[in-house]
Amino acid sequence: MSSTSHTNKGAIPAIALNDGRTIPQLGFGVFQIDPADTARAVGQALDVGYRHIDTAQMYGNEKEVGEGVRASGLDRGDVFITSKLNNGFHQPDDARRAFEKTLSDLKSDYVDLFLIHWPLPTLYDGDFESTWKTLEEFHRDGRARSIGVSNFQVDHLERLAAASDVVPAVNQIELHPYLLNEEVRTYDHAHDIATQAWSPIAQGNVLDDPVITGIADELGRSPAQVVLRWHIQRANIVFPKSTTPARIKENFELFDFELAADDVAKIDALDRGEAGRTGPNPDVFDRIPT
Ligand SMILES: NC(=O)c1ccc[n+]([C@@H]2O[C@H](COP(=O)([O-])OP(=O)(O)OC[C@H]3O[C@@H](n4cnc5c(N)ncnc54)[C@H](OP(=O)(O)O)[C@@H]3O)[C@@H](O)[C@H]2O)c1
Repeated sequence: MSSTSHTNKGAIPAIALNDGRTIPQLGFGVFQIDPADTARAVGQALDVGYRHIDTAQMYGNEKEVGEGVRASGLDRGDVFITSKLNNGFHQPDDARRAFEKTLSDLKSDYVDLFLIHWPLPTLYDGDFESTWKTLEEFHRDGRARSIGVSNFQVDHLERLAAASDVVPAVNQIELHPYLLNEEVRTYDHAHDIATQAWSPIAQGNVLDDPVITGIADELGRSPAQVVLRWHIQRANIVFPKSTTPARIKENFELFDFELAADDVAKIDALDRGEAGRTGPNPDVFDRIPT
């Protein structure tokens, strides 16, 4: 099972992955950060102490993530970088070319983690198994230190399990207090797949919930810190996005306080199921780049 332990990277716990590697439980997301601002934001995050950056081909800012990491002066090996295969590149030769572009854009000969971004079950005759086997090649040749999936539902994970002995190291799914996504998280946990929570503060939508502001007031913490701490205590991997320097710092300050079990339970109870989803439903999402 995935478990937490302490790394030498400050106070950020590490989650053990099923392939023997570890990932910092807290990272920095760069979705919707303008490429012109990405190197600056990544540089600030690394300066504050983040050592895990979550990008994707779809975000159009891998080059600038690479620039920010190099400009920080940190060794490449000290920063965990995730990227994701863009929709429209699922067929093996397309995936191979797209992966090579990720490496050349990052100016790195490897990524720490590479994911299938969306399962796209209604496209390519629903074939994401051959895409997964192509990611296995990247893992075998060492250019992707770990491989995983994103937005995979339970039936998608079951299909992968039937087609391959390689279990995804992670499944990155929408998960926050309004969408607990418990069925997928339970499957992940039972199969030693680490769950990554995207949009961990629901793009800000949960921050004025009275339950959350009430706990924040009691603890003298911000609502974002309370929600992110809730994720940490539930063993989710998170990478909040912000371009605001004060928030980048605030979102990192999660390891000098704790939520009581009944506060965790109160936040759990905010789950709205499907009604809480803010992004696309993976069963029907089929957008590919034009
Ligand atoms: N795999 C997928 O399909 C998928 C989908 C979506 C996201 N992701 C990943 O998950 C990461 C995080 O998700 P996200 O970017 O969608 O949303 P998020 O991290 O839940 O929220 C980001 C929003 O919250 C604001 N914010 C951040 N910190 C705050 C704070 N302390 N107080 C108040 N507001 C705050 C940000 O504003 P400012 O920037 O203006 O400060 C921004 O508008 C992404 O960057 C990406 O890496 C993956």
